[in-house]
Amino acid sequence: MLENYTPGYSTNATQFMAHRTAKSHAAFFMPYLNPEMKLLDCGCGPGTITLGLAQAVFPGTVTGIDLENSQLDIARESASKQSVGNVDFIQASVYHLPFPDSSFDAVFAHAVFEHLQKPLQALQEILRVLKPGGKVGVRSPDWGGFLIAPSTPELDLAMSYYKFLQQHNGGNVNVGRELGALLRQAGFTQIKTSASYESYEPLSLATEYLALRIQASEQVERAVERGWTDVQAIATMNQALQEWSLHPDRFFAQAWCEAIGHRFVVAL
Ligand SMILES: C[S@@+](CC[C@H](N)C(=O)[O-])C[C@H]1O[C@@H](n2cnc3c(N)ncnc32)[C@H](O)[C@@H]1O
Repeated sequence: MLENYTPGYSTNATQFMAHRTAKSHAAFFMPYLNPEMKLLDCGCGPGTITLGLAQAVFPGTVTGIDLENSQLDIARESASKQSVGNVDFIQASVYHLPFPDSSFDAVFAHAVFEHLQKPLQALQEILRVLKPGGKVGVRSPDWGGFLIAPSTPELDLAMSYYKFLQQHNGGNVNVGRELGALLRQAGFTQIKTSASYESYEPLSLATEYLALRIQASEQVERAVERGWTDVQAIATMNQALQEWSLHPDRFFAQAWCEAIGHRFVVAL
């Protein structure tokens, strides 16, 4: 099975990521950051969190890496517009980081591990580029913690179908609860786990994203041709998402799990 990044890089998906900030989405990691640190942000996407991390470590530096050049271009443009000079963005995979051993004081990855087929391999690569005593902070959602109201069979189908797509693409929608264990297996120490909820309001950006992605599965995954779904079911799921986004009693909250780990220091 090949690993594919399910959300894709549509304008809608990028906007969905770009409302995030270090203050709102990296709060669990901020207490571990100090000025002068050299930090790596893996899977930085449009870079809105990365720029906040750069402010936290100034006059240290942040490097954002991502597989996708279009996201890096957006991140570079934002850095330039906001005059954030202590950040650079490089195209790379988290599985093969183009840095020598022991390069960074801290490594961060937000909303990345749920898309990885080989999370342990990625963490071992992160451990390699961390200096002894360095810290990693990872945060991912866990679909076991979805609060949805009002629930309908059609809406449930839409959520289950998206979940199926992400798993088909090599992701793990329940990786949030496993982040601490993965850090331990990769060789990190002093692991600390936590969790928090994010609620989405207005819901329209999230529901539009889900609807567009479900529609796109016809082409991207050839879902209808493969018999996973049909055109009528796609229309029904999308209508349910649209009705939900306008429902006066709508509610959607998602659990996010967080884990901090350290690269051990060998003492004499
Ligand atoms: C959901 S976005 C999160 C972006 C950003 N960290 C945030 O939370 O706003 C995930 C990002 O990880 C990137 N990505 C996925 N697999 C990757 C890999 N193997 N190596 C590097 N980046 C990857 C995607 O291209 C995408 O930009």
